[in-house]
Amino acid sequence: MKPLKIAPSILAADFARLGDEIRRVEEAGAHWIHCDVMDGHFVPNLSMGPAVVAAARRSTKLYLDVHLMITDPALFIDQFYKAGADGIIFHVEAVANPIPLIDELHKRGLRAGLSISPPTDLARLMPYVDKVDEVLVMSVNPGFGGQVFIEDTVGRVAALRRASNELDIIVDGGINSETGARVVKAGANVLVAGTYIFRSDDARAAIRSLMMAGD
Ligand code: DX5
Ligand code: ZN
Repeated sequence: MKPLKIAPSILAADFARLGDEIRRVEEAGAHWIHCDVMDGHFVPNLSMGPAVVAAARRSTKLYLDVHLMITDPALFIDQFYKAGADGIIFHVEAVANPIPLIDELHKRGLRAGLSISPPTDLARLMPYVDKVDEVLVMSVNPGFGGQVFIEDTVGRVAALRRASNELDIIVDGGINSETGARVVKAGANVLVAGTYIFRSDDARAAIRSLMMAGD
């Protein structure tokens, strides 16, 4: 069983105090920091660019996972690489053939990840599970925080874990201690949570309750 990691999504942070917010969740026990990049085209929302990822980089030494919800990820990997990303995740729906981009990420020493949205057939992702370091299973339709967890996600996670023991399987969207426990039981080992952590009065208690999901 892969060790469980918690990745707060800074989309739910107070951007006016981003550095303090990141330090707050780091002190509360976060393992990774999740950065949601939206282009207003692949998803109907705009969020952050390389400058915000660079600001996050200056605020922490934690692993920075950059989730690209953009139409043309190849155009921007260099900017996020220079901004300090450790891992870059792009959507399987955004590219015809992910292999060249996976290779470009690895050439830069980055970890490569593929994300899949709820309506997309898992068969689209399976040919690449041994090529990437992490897969991100969206448990909400990408584009906004604070949405409700989609139940089908549990079975999709279980199918991916059967396909690979090595892979980091990330679940993202509507995660709390209850939904987190179900996906961890199915085989996920990284939980992204925005609202549940940043909007809680006690980030340490929120992160601890997610870590207990693995018990
Ligand atoms: C949504 C993003 C998620 C989102 C999670 O498209 O990819 O990372 O910020 O936020 P919560 O945990 O509030 O659903
Ligand atoms: Zn995300």
